[in-house]
Amino acid sequence: MFYIFIGNLFSMKNLFRFFPLFFLVLFLALFLITGFTTGLADLSRELKGQYDYKDFESAAKCRSCHGGLYEQWSQAMMSQAFTHHWDEIEYFDLAVAHAEKDPSLAEAVDGCNGCHTPMAYLAGDLPPARPEENTMANESVSCEACHLIQGTTTDPPFNYSYMMEPGNTKYSSRGKGNDSPAHRIVSSEFFRTTEFCGTCHNEKSPFGVWVKSTQIEWKEGPYAEEGVRCQDCHMPEAPYQTAMMGKTYNDARLHLFHGAHDPGKVRGTVELRIQPDIRLAEPGETVVFTVALFNQKTGHKFPTGSVEDRILWLQVEATDASGKTWILPVDKKGFEGEEYTIAGEELAYQDMGIPLGIENFEGVQRDGIPAGNRIFRMPYFDPEGRMTIMQWNTASLGVDYRIGPRETRMETYTFRLPFETAPGIMKVRAILNYQLLVKPVAGFLNVPEDESEIKTVNEHVTSLEILP
Ligand code: HEC
Ligand code: HEC
Ligand code: HEC
Ligand code: HEC
Ligand code: HEC
Repeated sequence: MFYIFIGNLFSMKNLFRFFPLFFLVLFLALFLITGFTTGLADLSRELKGQYDYKDFESAAKCRSCHGGLYEQWSQAMMSQAFTHHWDEIEYFDLAVAHAEKDPSLAEAVDGCNGCHTPMAYLAGDLPPARPEENTMANESVSCEACHLIQGTTTDPPFNYSYMMEPGNTKYSSRGKGNDSPAHRIVSSEFFRTTEFCGTCHNEKSPFGVWVKSTQIEWKEGPYAEEGVRCQDCHMPEAPYQTAMMGKTYNDARLHLFHGAHDPGKVRGTVELRIQPDIRLAEPGETVVFTVALFNQKTGHKFPTGSVEDRILWLQVEATDASGKTWILPVDKKGFEGEEYTIAGEELAYQDMGIPLGIENFEGVQRDGIPAGNRIFRMPYFDPEGRMTIMQWNTASLGVDYRIGPRETRMETYTFRLPFETAPGIMKVRAILNYQLLVKPVAGFLNVPEDESEIKTVNEHVTSLEILP
């Protein structure tokens, strides 16, 4: 029987019959191999659980010689990426709870730790104990988490695609034989690149959607061409002694890593000017105000990173001589998806009901700010097309109405002066506000106040005279 089969197989007729099948099998094999090396099944996943906590050194040890850099880092969010209240709430109450209900998300939810607490990820402590247990997971993005990185396995870098190995050799950009009594130093140009930051600052959701793309935004913007990197704005150069017993360098890299949680960094990011088309008007007349918003400070879009959480909005208010104030609604431009960029009363974020076990959850207010205000954002949508703040549950993105690096956005406000407008000077104020986490979500999840505090980015006032 077998011989007959083989014999048949080699007959000319059968060769032709099997040819397409042969190619199909070859194609499938190639597809699988390349899929595993370049695709979503990222190589760094092999790092998961490969080591033990005791293979790593604690930041407290680095502190004994690098005290200054340690204190800077400890005031930055990366030292709290696992312990910070909102991170704890979102990870445990939403993400881990979601993966318990839908096991297909388990890989992605373990992956949170690949960026937020790499040592826990490499030690396979998943999910790590809550911050109050004080395990090594609390070190978050520690000194070791960065200074053991040797390169990336993907282009562009994303989803913790770093190559990392614990040990007494620390990698960094300066190197050149500066000795340390505590460790070996290997010079690595990778530390001067933005790809280094991109391993954690670009993220793809399990649906293959870019839910974080700070390094990609940078690369497409004007600063990449000019060679102004992440490090130049977030790790400024200054004369500083980087280690006890070490030298004082004129170009030492401070570990400030200040970002959206530093009101001073956010302040003035966008410059604002407002002007009316006429300076003298009567009640009942129509005035058009034009606002120019110039993103003068960020090297990426604004907002960037956790775009699903953030809200940046422009409010324009007119106050007449008697003190009566009107909030002006922005003029519509008519682009697709514009409804997500104008504040309203809609409900959203219904998918939070899944991990929280609330059936038919109606959602919470989408914006929580005065209706008619312009919002600079990019909405994220869950598989059912509803707006979500759960980036791992993001199946598509909406209109991108954020402000790009060095971009200037124009908005107009057409205002028919009410007949009761008092004569005299009318002041018109444009205020650009920023919130890390949309207020209705913060309130619903009991996230402490500071995460939804309103930060003023900038404001400008103009005036016109109202005739009696
Ligand atoms: C190992 C992963 C990892 C690497 C590498 C990394 N980051 Fe981060 N970074 C994070 C995580 C996680 C957060 C979020 C912290 C939090 O939970 O608020 C973050 C937050 C930040 C913030 C935000 C601070 C704020 O106030 O919101 C800045 C700025 C920042 N990183 C800059 C950088 C720069 C610059 C580089 C490259 C030199 C870099 N990061 C490399 C993981 C990383
Ligand atoms: C030209 C200066 C400049 C460059 C270059 C730059 N940034 Fe920023 N970055 C800023 C400013 C200003 C802010 C504060 C405003 C804001 O939150 O976006 C900021 C904010 C951030 C935040 C917090 C964003 C948020 O809203 O939560 C992160 C994270 C960040 N930067 C990472 C990076 C990374 C990674 C790179 C390189 C790929 C980079 N930055 C390049 C100026 C810069
Ligand atoms: C016993 C003191 C000591 C301890 C502990 C120590 N270092 Fe250092 N380290 C030094 C000295 C000294 C230098 C050289 C400084 C110079 O260039 O003048 C240095 C340099 C470095 C550099 C700079 C490499 C470059 O670019 O030249 C890195 C990165 C570094 N240390 C990381 C760490 C980390 C991470 C830890 C904790 C795991 C640590 N160090 C603990 C003393 C120490
Ligand atoms: C988010 C990643 C990140 C973290 C966390 C981090 N570093 Fe660094 N560190 C860098 C990068 C990137 C450079 C080099 C920047 C460059 O050359 O542009 C650097 C440079 C250094 C240098 C050399 C500075 C110089 O200019 O000579 C020392 C020393 C150092 N780091 C120690 C530490 C210590 C100690 C900690 C923990 C308290 C720490 N780093 C945490 C990314 C990090
Ligand atoms: C590819 C790396 C990466 C992965 C994977 C990742 N994060 Fe993040 N996460 C970051 C970075 C970088 C930031 C900071 C962005 C910014 O400042 O805007 C951040 C910010 C956050 C914040 C906002 C912190 C704040 O205070 O505003 C929360 C909450 C958070 N992540 C939770 C999660 C959860 C939960 C998961 C897993 C489902 C996850 N992250 C997966 C890199 C990652």
